[in-house]
Amino acid sequence: MCGIVGAVAQRDVADILVEGLKRLEYRGYDSAGVAVINNNNELQATKRLGKVQELAQALEQQPVTGGTGIAHTRWATHGIPSEVNAHPHVSNNTIAVVHNGIIENHQSLRSQLQGLGYEFLSQTDTEVITHLVHHELKTSDTLLAAVQKTVKQLEGAYGTVVMDSRDQDNIIVARSGSPLVIGYGLGENFIASDIMALLPVTRKFSYLEEGDVAQISRFNVSIFDTHGEPVEREAKEANVSHDSGDKGEYRHYMLKETYEQPTAIRNSLEGRLVGGMLDINTFGEGADEIFKNVEHVQIIACGTSYHSGMVARYWLEELAGVSCNIEIASEFRYRKSFVPKNSLLVTISQSGETADTLAALRLAKEIGYQSSLVICNVPGSSLVRESDLAFMTRAGAEIGVASTKAFTTQLVGLLMMTLAIGQHHGMSDKKQAEITQSLMSLPAKLDEVLALASSIEDLAEDFADKHHALFLGRGDQYPIAMEGALKLKEISYIHAEAYAAGELKHGPLALIDAEMPVIVVAPKNDLIEKLKSNVEEVRARGGLMYVFADNDANFSSDDTMKVIDVPVCDDIIAPIVYTLPLQLLSYYVAIIKGTDVDQPRNLAKSVTVE
Ligand code: M6R
Repeated sequence: MCGIVGAVAQRDVADILVEGLKRLEYRGYDSAGVAVINNNNELQATKRLGKVQELAQALEQQPVTGGTGIAHTRWATHGIPSEVNAHPHVSNNTIAVVHNGIIENHQSLRSQLQGLGYEFLSQTDTEVITHLVHHELKTSDTLLAAVQKTVKQLEGAYGTVVMDSRDQDNIIVARSGSPLVIGYGLGENFIASDIMALLPVTRKFSYLEEGDVAQISRFNVSIFDTHGEPVEREAKEANVSHDSGDKGEYRHYMLKETYEQPTAIRNSLEGRLVGGMLDINTFGEGADEIFKNVEHVQIIACGTSYHSGMVARYWLEELAGVSCNIEIASEFRYRKSFVPKNSLLVTISQSGETADTLAALRLAKEIGYQSSLVICNVPGSSLVRESDLAFMTRAGAEIGVASTKAFTTQLVGLLMMTLAIGQHHGMSDKKQAEITQSLMSLPAKLDEVLALASSIEDLAEDFADKHHALFLGRGDQYPIAMEGALKLKEISYIHAEAYAAGELKHGPLALIDAEMPVIVVAPKNDLIEKLKSNVEEVRARGGLMYVFADNDANFSSDDTMKVIDVPVCDDIIAPIVYTLPLQLLSYYVAIIKGTDVDQPRNLAKSVTVE
């Protein structure tokens, strides 16, 4: 949520900042702003409501110049999206601040500062930081000291960057709860909420830790921990391609990322199943010992990642014979839960920065989980750094807000985890070989599924005038139905719900009529006959169905049902295979509805606030 970029350089930085914001736009896109210090030590700030492109156009017409600057793309929490609420916020024409996170005690700080004569222009929580730094600077020798005093008074989460127009040599950054990464250049240094923003200017990065405050100047970076002691944070070269933020030939990132899934999964498998054997080190040092002792798995995640965890529960209990619970992070973190003996906590997160998931991991450590593992797509992210073990999904940068390849590669990681744990819990060699072979067959199978795109595009026409949809599945396809419903509502704004098909008669059947399309996920498996009974229940009530099924399931299209032929695949990987047609359906429905597919309203990619 909210993207931050900052630079201290010997060249003009406005273009670097705007390019950085474009690369961070997935984090928030309701308004954007930039401020640089010019040669006369004046702040030049430009802000625009709407996307970064609006800001870029404004800067083209009225450029700003200077080598020290900060910029921000916003996802509104406090105060509506507007130019006045856009960052940077400025105090007394000197202190400029950008911020990601939520200052929970902003009301009391605001009253306190108003009492001191500060005038507030915006409804944001951020503006209190701006005036507080200005106030603290009156009794501090340096901007660094003023920021250190300021952050001690903040409750909540922040990744924040502060500059003072009277000091062109430094910017001060502080992190607590919202990620910040320092980028090292030659005679210039940078800060951002994600390395993606800085790839055009550097490959060398270090992550700030919780509580760190840093002073960034052209030739030097000084980092101080939460006690104000100088610390080193290891700088590493990032192995990410410069163009990973490029849409290529595709109309949207989401479509590109949907089509990248066979390759993403190939990458995810590469070197991990050597000669049919799983390389346990893929989960990190000590994985073997941890998996050997595991008696229970607790999975925690949000959104799409939660759905992949739901599938994993079926796999872990059925294939590995290990008990498993799954819970949404925002619920888990606020209730007292029982910790079964020898429990492994598994978090799942594309970004590795989701505030609730991170808080749940920290809580789990306090309440006695034996060890933790994260399934994640972003190396160096907070969840990866704070977990004992990590499986990196290698999906590559996912820019579309709607998660696609991150989800299917998470499932691959979870299936490998099932295999790894199963090996220590009596999983037969035959079953292990079956899982391995199924995984290896996935990329080619997904290529076959993607060939369904044009028939799914035709089908999407039926949804042009629809406002509601119901998704049905059974067993490990129930979470896939949930994921299909989430995808549809997220990008087409059609209200969609998913039900375990057996639940139909306990309520949702009342909704069935010709205006409520019912999407059924129906591979031939042990539950197909049960699912067919549910299909008949819908048919008998005049429902119109779209059934995604393989030939063996034996459905045929008629007046009440359109059947989409999905290639036959092994049961184990069917949840992954059936995800793709549902992603394509959502995508094409969104195109017909004319929504902003990659940046749907009110959402952001990385949810770093709770
Ligand atoms: O980065 P995470 O996987 O932790 O994010 C969790 C959810 O915010 C995310 O999956 C969200 O539901 C997606 N927009 C779904 O497409």
